[in-house]
Amino acid sequence: MKLIRKVTKTSIFSGGQLLARGNLVAFPTETVYGLGANANDSRAVAKIFAAKNRPSFNPLIVHLSDQDEAYRHAVLNRSAKALADAFWPGPLTLILPRHERCGISPLVSAGLDTVALRVPASADARRLITAARIPIAAPSANLSGRLSPTCAEHVAKQLKRHVSLILDGGPCDIGLESTVVDVTKNIPVILRPGGLPSERIEQAIGQKLLTDNGTSTDIKSPGMLVNHYAPSLALRINAQNPRPGEVFLGFGKDVINADLNLSPTGDLLEAAANLFAYLHRLDSMPAKGIAVMPIPTEAIGWAINDRLKRAACR
Ligand code: TXA
Ligand code: MG
Repeated sequence: MKLIRKVTKTSIFSGGQLLARGNLVAFPTETVYGLGANANDSRAVAKIFAAKNRPSFNPLIVHLSDQDEAYRHAVLNRSAKALADAFWPGPLTLILPRHERCGISPLVSAGLDTVALRVPASADARRLITAARIPIAAPSANLSGRLSPTCAEHVAKQLKRHVSLILDGGPCDIGLESTVVDVTKNIPVILRPGGLPSERIEQAIGQKLLTDNGTSTDIKSPGMLVNHYAPSLALRINAQNPRPGEVFLGFGKDVINADLNLSPTGDLLEAAANLFAYLHRLDSMPAKGIAVMPIPTEAIGWAINDRLKRAACR
């Protein structure tokens, strides 16, 4: 059987069966490609950690086909319900207390008493979860610390020896991971900026969010310490011009010396969708490093800058 298969009824059905039997299947979501496994099966979940070389203290996100499923695995307080109502299906992950009858493998939670849940907007992803009839644990389908995948070929490049199937749904619409929000307390806390801008969350709940970008001593999102999203070339951010030997990633109008431009019209959504794909391309060029122009920090620009800062830090 071919490793990469276009999303069709048949390939989704095969993917669902492979997952239910404990295999790893990579699949498209609206954010990035996920490396999926049966979340109820510790042996299957362990394969994810091994394939990605992921530290076992870094918990995984569980993907569900609809919001009702969430109540079987976790306890949702008032703000959790409000956020789920407003943004699911969509690029939002909620950190919730595990339900006392939660059947999800403790490995998924990396020993914490919480679980990360999300209902993806991608219809392909939801069809796969429905076909598998189980919750799907899925981190981004890249090696730990490396660039996230926004198309099937990116997954194959890093993980082809480890997956039974890569479902190809074309390039991801958003191109950045989901926004992770801890809703275990009264005031929601953003643990990872992502595809859903924080301004939209604040509007929906009529309340300012707290932020915890992993730098505080009270670390709630263990993954933010190890997530570097790093290309192999050195990356320099906020660069006005390239230095000798550097390839140049531009943003906005009137940029004439860029090797690639994230958005020639200065559209942040377009820039987010192109970010990882362009970094993958520049990273394979014969160069000494990658220089990136400044990107505004508003809306999804916050998440773009978060990923770039991490990629630049090595
Ligand atoms: O868009 C996405 O979220 C993608 C697609 C595939 O859905 N998935 C993704 O997963 O980005 P991953 O594993 O690359 O990132 C999950 C993040 C990590 O920073 C992890 O530490 C955090 O979510 N996380 C997961 N469970 C958690 C928990 N119980 N408490 C705190 N943080 C948690
Ligand atoms: Mg990741």
